[in-house]
Amino acid sequence: MKAIIPAAGLGTRFLPATKCTPKEMLPVLDKPVIQYVVEEALEPEEVTDAIIVTSPNKPELLSYFQPDTALEQLLRARGKAGCADGVARAGSLPVDFRFQYRPNGLGHAIRSAADAVAGEPFLVLLGDYVVPARDICGRMLEVSAAHGGASVVAVAPCAPEEVSRYGVIAGECLDAPAGGLEPGAVWRVSGLVEKPAPEDAPSNLYLVGRYLLSPLVMDLLEDQAPGAGGEVQLTDAMARSLEREAMYAVVVDPLSGYDTGTPSGWIATNALMAASDPRFSDGFWEAVDARGGLKR
Ligand code: G1P
Repeated sequence: MKAIIPAAGLGTRFLPATKCTPKEMLPVLDKPVIQYVVEEALEPEEVTDAIIVTSPNKPELLSYFQPDTALEQLLRARGKAGCADGVARAGSLPVDFRFQYRPNGLGHAIRSAADAVAGEPFLVLLGDYVVPARDICGRMLEVSAAHGGASVVAVAPCAPEEVSRYGVIAGECLDAPAGGLEPGAVWRVSGLVEKPAPEDAPSNLYLVGRYLLSPLVMDLLEDQAPGAGGEVQLTDAMARSLEREAMYAVVVDPLSGYDTGTPSGWIATNALMAASDPRFSDGFWEAVDARGGLKR
């Protein structure tokens, strides 16, 4: 199975930082954010390759995942084996690329990788969401296997006024007594709406950006008309697939992922992950304490 990771956006929210550096190359601790998403995608043993869909204007993404043996050797010669191992790992991950030649929405980006998945089910992982435990896709694969290989999406509850930022599901909870909002609950999806007004939202369960999709969704993207924001929406093709196929949603803990899609979210992700990572926490708190601590 292949996992598609869209990374073709302009990174507008991070300008001017993203004028020359793709948003996906911004670091979280010591790795670019895209590497977390690639490593998460490759975690289930069913997944053989990550396919990054990017724009021809972002060659840095291609370079990053290429081996650099000269740099590696130089680092090893200087006794920096840890750094050399990091460089070697980035160049050894099974990553392939497809291009989206004009920005035309998430659905269009995914469709740009159609030849790579060749009629097979596929994963989609959106890159603004970092999941250090890498456990969501495995759970989605289990739910799919329990329901005949159906499409499965990961959802989480949000505040009712936040639904207009996301894709939202309609559905019926299959197995959970407490309203079906606790992590692990499985829903049968009966509808999907992209960025609804709060009064039109069928639920407050939003798509967090992890999808396991059937080949039908890829086929439907071929002629998908533009939707919200005038863009080709993945959510709309998924909604059309419901006429012919079942789809399920698995609830995940909203705190299982970090949002790196806005400057504030990205800064908070770095601070929170530094504070809890033994490689960084001492130095992080020393630097903070030297300035009198962090206060609101
Ligand atoms: C995309 C999807 C949306 C999903 C969201 C998660 O929206 O279209 O359904 O809920 O990612 O972050 P975007 O953030 O690209 O507007």
